[in-house]
Amino acid sequence: VSASLRGLLLGAAVVVKYLQPNIDQGQYNSNVVKNYQLIVPGYELKPEHIWLDENVYNFSDADWLLGATPNTTGWVQQNGMQLRGHTLVWAYDMRIPRWLLDREASITPEKAKTLLRNYIYTVVGRYRGKIQWWDVINELISNYNNTRPFYIANSFWYRKLGIDYVKYAYIFAHEADPDAKLYYNDFGIQQGGFKADRVFDLIDWLKSENVPIHGVGIQWHIKVSETVTPGDAHYQTAQRFIDRNLDLMVTELDISIPMVDSHPVDPNDIQRQGLAYRSILDYVLYFAPRTPALLTWGFTDRYSWIPAATNYTQGEALPLDANYQPKPAYWQMQDDL
Ligand code: XIL
Repeated sequence: VSASLRGLLLGAAVVVKYLQPNIDQGQYNSNVVKNYQLIVPGYELKPEHIWLDENVYNFSDADWLLGATPNTTGWVQQNGMQLRGHTLVWAYDMRIPRWLLDREASITPEKAKTLLRNYIYTVVGRYRGKIQWWDVINELISNYNNTRPFYIANSFWYRKLGIDYVKYAYIFAHEADPDAKLYYNDFGIQQGGFKADRVFDLIDWLKSENVPIHGVGIQWHIKVSETVTPGDAHYQTAQRFIDRNLDLMVTELDISIPMVDSHPVDPNDIQRQGLAYRSILDYVLYFAPRTPALLTWGFTDRYSWIPAATNYTQGEALPLDANYQPKPAYWQMQDDL
């Protein structure tokens, strides 16, 4: 029995233009359709990509996926897939549209709130009913000590609106599509600890203010040396989220292998990686039905953000190799052993 038959959706981040039939003789497209029930566009729904100016949007990729109007469909519906939206706010300045930062001095708090509302209404409203899950805020909690509430990152939105901008973002998204499940997404929180505690505090505050939030996305970018076993800190942390009546999704899983000259330093790491993928699938299944989906960040080593992001010291992080051939990780994710 595969995980999907147990009701768990398997998903992957995709690059929309690679879904075109001319890319790798259609292998990119056909592997997505064959192996996954949902996708998340890796960058095509990020503000930096679609929000070109106050009233100028680039919806070309998202429209191709979902259809531009309520009555039209796109690649997603035509292939029987579902879609996660990522992300309405990416919570630090490097990921906020440049034109907005450039105009910061002339934007009043009231205007900032209007901008945030219009953006979220425009994007969420356009695909209302077509996007089942939205990351409303991505990477809010800073990895560094600071004096802001919940140790959040500094950003345009924080400087204009304070911590309340977080509330507004969820409320606007809920108003624009009351059926979408609204998530908070972050990395480095799966094992508990200081950052996870700040996320718990944030969620407790949002809940106490009756803000609509339905789930937490754990990115889960890890190295193959990090292990997950029943009852450990990963399991305890998941339980703490679920105790807050939240769904939990592993949203961006990849498991990196140390590399030298484009080869694994230790060839055994490919097997070890398979077991690591399996241990995380087991964790997700353990918490069903509060864990609706498990997504990897990409699916083939041919296209992965890990090598460049680690200066080529890590790689081969995904279930298919660079020629779309299944690795042990692929088989471990397919079979409910
Ligand atoms: C990455 C994309 O994969 C890259 O193509 C892009 O250049 C930078 O962003 N956490 C996230 C994702 O939430 O949005 C990031 O995606 C990877 C880390």
